Amino acid sequence: MTEPANGDLATVSRCRVCGGPLNQFLDLGRQPLSDAFLTPGDVADEYFYRLAVGCCASCTMVQLVEEVPRERMFHEGYPYHSSGSSVMREHFARTARDLVRSAASDDPFVVEIGCNDGVMLSTVRDLGVRHLGFEPSGGVARIAQAGGIRVRVDFFEASTAAEVRAEEGPADVIYAANTLCHIPYVESIMKGVDALLAPDGVLVFEDPYLGDIISKTSFDQIYDEHFFFFSAGSVAAMARRFGLELVDVQHLPVHGGEVRYTLARAGARTPSDAVAELIEREEAARLTDPATLLGFASGVARIRDDLTTLLRELRAQGKTVVGYGATAKSATVTNFCGIGPDLVSYVCDSTPAKQGRLTPGAHIPVLPPEAFSTPYPDYALLFAWNHAEEIMAKEREFHDNGGRWVLYVPDVRIV
Ligand code: SAM
Ligand code: TMP
Ligand code: ZN
Repeated sequence: MTEPANGDLATVSRCRVCGGPLNQFLDLGRQPLSDAFLTPGDVADEYFYRLAVGCCASCTMVQLVEEVPRERMFHEGYPYHSSGSSVMREHFARTARDLVRSAASDDPFVVEIGCNDGVMLSTVRDLGVRHLGFEPSGGVARIAQAGGIRVRVDFFEASTAAEVRAEEGPADVIYAANTLCHIPYVESIMKGVDALLAPDGVLVFEDPYLGDIISKTSFDQIYDEHFFFFSAGSVAAMARRFGLELVDVQHLPVHGGEVRYTLARAGARTPSDAVAELIEREEAARLTDPATLLGFASGVARIRDDLTTLLRELRAQGKTVVGYGATAKSATVTNFCGIGPDLVSYVCDSTPAKQGRLTPGAHIPVLPPEAFSTPYPDYALLFAWNHAEEIMAKEREFHDNGGRWVLYVPDVRIV
């Protein structure tokens, strides 16, 4: 593999969607699995891979250069629980009602890929609608099952989708949130969709939007699980390749800016104006041009320098600094910037499965949120910046008592 040199992009691999040449534009170095929180005994066996991103010269899909085997990421102990945010619980309740309302059938069958703890399907269940979640991570899947949600503890792929089609009939809606971008094996997924989807059904998925990642320099959206960084242009090309068509797009404010894509079988629905409008905006902004992507890479280096300078200054002044939100995103930030317990003493997080452990790679202790106020630190580095409103409201007393938040997206600042 070659590294980018003199501002030129090097072809490093092949696109996972179309097989075209992949041009690397950013290397975030050696990284651990972003959700592999450790006990001290695990440290010696920690798994690392190279986190680098490229753009396909043929179809413009932005994607990782190295692929981590799926079983290393999604397993019994997968610690991310979707229901941990009240804003996201509301978002998914609304989404469920919209999906059911828009289904073409009056007895719809809704399938979710990556249902996690059932945050979306719980509303579908409450509405009395036929449903099935695919969720390979056993721990979270069982939480959903305990709540009366039908879950198949399995990866969605061509074979498992075909089995469901044979046993339960066609799906009117196949939905995935923050999951399709995690899956490099697109061909198998699309074969599965083709097998399972009703003739007038829709595949709806929402994931972090490349346009927001570039405009906010939110480089921490890049980690092992986030394999693809979708745009309307690249999703439209992907859809065409697999006999589908992008028929609607909707920008969403959640998780730092996402787009919800609706795909139907080619010719089955009339695309909304929003599709052409977003593709035109992406083209006008030259979203996937090498100059744009290399400009993003320079912005990432600037944030790293600004953030480490600030944290070192605060430490030199004797200030206390802790992290807030042991997000998967924070693994990229801490490991790329070289931020360890010397600069951030601990990270508070509400997820029991992360508490009492060490963050991946950087080995910063994770403590429950109660530790935050006993006593409050001088500064809190907000790794969960996508939940800023919810967390800042919850922790108002910290700010009222003179504590300050450190943010690093879209630039490093204290608020
Ligand atoms: N949909 C939830 C949300 O938006 O909060 C969960 C998102 S979580 C980041 C991604 C989930 O996808 C994980 O629970 C993981 O186990 C699951 N997953 C990964 N690959 C999958 C596949 N091939 N089929 C179904 N689920 C998968
Ligand atoms: P996410 O950005 O991938 O959704 O992860 C958010 C992380 O932040 C997750 O580990 C839970 C944690 N968190 C808190 O600790 N307190 C909160 O109020 C919220 C919303 C999240
Ligand atoms: Zn491609």
